[in-house]
Amino acid sequence: MPVLGIESSAHTFGVGVVDNGKIIANEKSMYSIGTGGMVPGAVAEFHASNARSTISSALASSGASIKELEAVGYTRGPGLGPCLRVGLLAASTLAARLGVPLIPVNHGVAHIEVAKHVCRMRDPLALYVSGGNSQIVALSSSRPRRYTVYGETLDIGVGNMLDVFARSARLEPAWGSSVAKVARGGSYVEMPYTVKGMDFAFAGLLTKATSLLGGHSTKDVAYSLQETAFSMLCEATERAMLLTGRRELLTCGGVAQSSRLREMLGSMAASHHARFGVADNALNADNGAMIALVAEKIMRSGSGYGRTGINQRDRPDSVIVTW
Ligand code: FE2
Repeated sequence: MPVLGIESSAHTFGVGVVDNGKIIANEKSMYSIGTGGMVPGAVAEFHASNARSTISSALASSGASIKELEAVGYTRGPGLGPCLRVGLLAASTLAARLGVPLIPVNHGVAHIEVAKHVCRMRDPLALYVSGGNSQIVALSSSRPRRYTVYGETLDIGVGNMLDVFARSARLEPAWGSSVAKVARGGSYVEMPYTVKGMDFAFAGLLTKATSLLGGHSTKDVAYSLQETAFSMLCEATERAMLLTGRRELLTCGGVAQSSRLREMLGSMAASHHARFGVADNALNADNGAMIALVAEKIMRSGSGYGRTGINQRDRPDSVIVTW
């Protein structure tokens, strides 16, 4: 019996359907950020007006009937409050109408679990990199099982940093893709490099890079920014791999769509004889399928669904992994 999942933490209203671990639909409506960034109220309004049609098109492409749904999952957090509330409202209305369980899912855990699922990994170390989040995470072996955050950004997420820089350089803000495009063939300009153990910070790097725009070519600044940020992530991740002794490494989240980051992490993993994996771009971008997948795992574990509601600062290490 299929499970439907709703993702609404940021600019994407995503609806996925999963049946027995198989993704049978993954539809989305995306708010266009433009040059002004995300205004939470406006994004929430967009989600509210697209919720019904996105749910209908996910059900249509899954081939499942609404009456077959066994549960409805939604993103509890982290994310923008007004946007999360629209997802909760849509999911709770649907679950109540069908008389099926409503299952809250942590957004970061969903990114990691869907990548782990499609890469067929057992117990990886994960570098989760998106607009608002940048964390190095692995599942603990102690009971109850939780994701342990070994390292994380001390200020802003790497995706947010790349987007703010892109706007300052009059490029399209999109998880670093336009920065990567303009960076091709650039030369290195000295940048601040901030790694503290397995934690890292990007605000100083962003300030420096932005201040260099105008005095240096955008190509050189973009190249230096990208290489520095990704090297910081690789160094911290490598340290966590050595500490945890993991032989599987995956990256997930919006910035995991970057081919340069994948290349750097892949060669670092190979140097430690570790397997490296990353999901397709559609599953690294925000999506409803990852929420449906984890909701189904939670439901099948039979260990309860956790408290409903939203939490804008929900963390992966707050989740007890029952599946
Ligand atoms: Fe995300």
